Amino acid sequence: MRNFENKVTAVTGSARGIGYSIAEAFAKRGAISIILDINKEDVDLAVNKITEQGFKAHGYQLDVTNNEVVEQAFKQIVEEHGRIDVLINNAGITRDTLVLKMSEEDWDRVLDVNLKGTFISTQKASRYMLKQRDGVIINVASVIGISGNAGQANYAASKGGVIAFTKSTAKEFASRNIRVNAIAPGFIETEMTAILPEGVVSKYLESIPLKRMGSINDVANLCLFLASDEASYITGQTINVDGGLIT
Ligand code: NAI
Repeated sequence: MRNFENKVTAVTGSARGIGYSIAEAFAKRGAISIILDINKEDVDLAVNKITEQGFKAHGYQLDVTNNEVVEQAFKQIVEEHGRIDVLINNAGITRDTLVLKMSEEDWDRVLDVNLKGTFISTQKASRYMLKQRDGVIINVASVIGISGNAGQANYAASKGGVIAFTKSTAKEFASRNIRVNAIAPGFIETEMTAILPEGVVSKYLESIPLKRMGSINDVANLCLFLASDEASYITGQTINVDGGLIT
């Protein structure tokens, strides 16, 4: 199925992990996948991995917290590809620790990347989408942004903020045919979670009704649906992809 033929799809933090699998999934359906990531070496590897399979990808190295650089990147994307159809705000980090031990720097950086980064990319990309009167934005939040978690107050606040930002931008952009939704992944198998000790993993699994960790494809599939015409009446929502963890 190539329902995203030549659709320009930008994914932040897509040089690896969930973001990469989203970028690859769109490319496999015909999209021009734009890899945006802070890590230059991984950007090149990700672009090569997609183009070697015969699909379309281009990469830009950027830090989503840098207003001017992000503005320039979207300008260049539109100059080179003519438009921007889909933006997926996926770049995210954790700096876990208890509130009493949390440095201001740990608080600021997580909020900056996860929440301000989402605002900056949304603002830059939506300027073009508003002119096109067409576009889709998907923000990668987390179930932690809904439920909270001890040791992740900064991360939870950033992801809760992403959900509120999603609702507001959906209302702002709806009249111009731009849909904005958030997704809230649960426990997904990535490099981030691969390092967890076996005991922690089995404890998590006990609380997941579907009794398995999610795969990066589970997350990508939800993005494909939300960006498709089949989801044309869905905006301002947060959809969980978590095996039933949060209900
Ligand atoms: P990851 O750490 O494997 O990948 C994150 C990517 O973002 C990396 O390529 C990194 O270089 C990039 N990045 C980090 N800071 C950046 C910045 N300032 N500017 C541009 N790029 C930057 O993480 P993963 O697991 O793939 O997570 C992706 C998203 O999914 C994040 O927003 C995360 O919070 C969210 N998520 C992940 C879950 C999981 O179980 N892995 C669960 C729920 C949400």
